Amino acid sequence: MNKNSENISGWKKFMKSLTKAHELGTEEDIMLDHDYDGIRELDNVLPPWWLYGFYITIAMSIFYIFQVFYNPENYSQSNEYATEVAEGKAEVEAYKAANPQLFDDSNIVAFTDEANIAKGKELFTSKTCFACHLADLGGSIGPNLTDNHWVLGGGVKNIYNTISNGGRPGKGMIAWETTITREERIQLASYIISMQGSAPAAPKAAEGDIIWPAQ
Ligand code: HEC
Repeated sequence: MNKNSENISGWKKFMKSLTKAHELGTEEDIMLDHDYDGIRELDNVLPPWWLYGFYITIAMSIFYIFQVFYNPENYSQSNEYATEVAEGKAEVEAYKAANPQLFDDSNIVAFTDEANIAKGKELFTSKTCFACHLADLGGSIGPNLTDNHWVLGGGVKNIYNTISNGGRPGKGMIAWETTITREERIQLASYIISMQGSAPAAPKAAEGDIIWPAQ
């Protein structure tokens, strides 16, 4: 017998020990006496693989019962949920505290870098602002955005506020809060600020009593 066949017989033995299957041809030894309308029954043992699996589930269920109902930490799904939600909220708060300029409108600062200004310019076209303020911001339906006169206030916070919440009722400047993201509204405001003092082709006469920067 070479090593290979030894292995095979070892494997076979192991498989047999898992099932304890009765040898074929010797069924008579375990045949039960009953005869159900000609159908007879073998008294096979439960296969050990199945039986031990069953014992493991019993052990698991006992462990589980203690874990769920007698755990000193009062474990339950609702507690676990509440804990995780609290952890999540704490993380959000920590992030907000670390990045106030992203969430708190009173902390808004205008972008001055080229990429964000360019994005603001692009948005001014893609979000149709140019239709009322003109592409060079000279103004038509909406006021000239390049002069230092403001109806609703200049500076990044006021401009951001106007873009977010709109102008006076009935004037045509809607609130963009729901259609333009917060960052994009800051980019738009920054672009408008970057255009202060530029010379549009046909500037609309100054509107608004607010002079900005305030004098
Ligand atoms: C349908 C026309 C229309 C569109 C589109 C429009 N606006 Fe206006 N905008 C107006 C009008 C009209 C006003 C003046 C509101 C008022 O008098 O209360 C205004 C006011 C403003 C002001 C304040 C000006 C001031 O003097 O205080 C800013 C800033 C502004 N718009 C930016 C934008 C931006 C950015 C967009 C694109 C997202 C945009 N607008 C799109 C019509 C428009």
